[in-house]
Amino acid sequence: MDSLNQKPSAVVYLDACATTPPSVEVIKCIEDVQRFAWANPSSLHAPGLLAAERLERSRQTIAKSFKANANEVVFTSGATESVHMALMGVARSMQPGRLVISAVEHPAVEAASNQLRREGWQICHWPVDGFGRVKLDHLETLLSPPTSLVSLIWGQSEVGTIQPIKTIGLACRERGIQFHTDATQVLREGLLNWSQLPVDLLSASAHKFQGPKGVGLLLIRPEHSTMLLPLQSGGGQEQGLRAGTEPVALIAGMAKAVEQLHQPIAGCSGSNLNIQERVQNMRDGLNIELQKIAGLRFTGHPNDRLTHHISLLVATADGQPVPARAVVRELARRGVAASSGSACSSGRSQNSHVLEAMQVDAEWLQSGLRFSLGPWLLEKNMEVIPDLLNQAIDAAASSA
Ligand SMILES: Cc1ncc(COP(=O)(O)O)c(C=O)c1O
Repeated sequence: MDSLNQKPSAVVYLDACATTPPSVEVIKCIEDVQRFAWANPSSLHAPGLLAAERLERSRQTIAKSFKANANEVVFTSGATESVHMALMGVARSMQPGRLVISAVEHPAVEAASNQLRREGWQICHWPVDGFGRVKLDHLETLLSPPTSLVSLIWGQSEVGTIQPIKTIGLACRERGIQFHTDATQVLREGLLNWSQLPVDLLSASAHKFQGPKGVGLLLIRPEHSTMLLPLQSGGGQEQGLRAGTEPVALIAGMAKAVEQLHQPIAGCSGSNLNIQERVQNMRDGLNIELQKIAGLRFTGHPNDRLTHHISLLVATADGQPVPARAVVRELARRGVAASSGSACSSGRSQNSHVLEAMQVDAEWLQSGLRFSLGPWLLEKNMEVIPDLLNQAIDAAASSA
């Protein structure tokens, strides 16, 4: 069979934090726009106006869902771009000062910060506790001058911990410090009420919540959009903040995925469960079963965590750490797609910088395994996971 036509449907896909499959409705929406609203939304003729209408309708849908105004939604190619646009765009509009980021950020935030260091900024890492949560007793010191910009990941992709965004956002606001959060893993939870969030800039990617890849957003307050220096200039799109013809079909697909975040479960009339609650129930059930396996150690905060996320350190029953990459390969052989730490760090040092920041002992730094669930799963898929994980650990340990 042509590999391009093979369906991965036989796989139990537990890697939502890396990416999610676009929903059927999202695919249909993208196809419709490609066929019927394909024109350049800046053109003044009828096809252009149709595309512009679709673009702005998508912006309205997203804005309404997150209780934002339409002019606070800027479309980008994804969270990596949004993060760069936020941090570099704001920093370059100010005198270099101190940028504080947590010790458990995504590499996109690290990379933007490294660039700013070369431009004269001082970069400071906010230490985390054993759960991967920033230590609040550092707040006064870290938010004192010359700190003028802070960036904090909201939901940590590798260990699932939710950060105290509101506390830190309010503290930044009191001190006139600009505050950005990387909400890439959190948007799927439908947690967001932008109108009440003490955050100046927020980044996300559509493909983490069943939208398409290659599109994301930056939420930005109007007073910040006037100060932000764009990364790229040209045709003046997106209020002059992000030049380039807008990918209307991808943006419409993202809007459709946002709309679907709040829908009750299809075919479950009378059920009060929404999609996320059903996924959380599956996660909780799997978690209880995994807790029974000897040798495993669970990471991240036990309660304040992403609701689709389980993270652990894999070990033999007598407690010897096992390399998670080998376990991931063994799981893949058994039809389960999982991840060792963060997918984005594959190819780099195999030690997790997140586990390191959490002061996990050196012999465990390559043992981080992550299961992240989604609405495409069935309860019966979960039943087989503990046994398959046991098999995978045994196989990985015996080949090590
Ligand atoms: C927390 C976080 N931030 C940023 C990104 C980057 O997203 P993208 O690759 O869609 O630009 C990811 C993707 O893994 C992520 O998990």
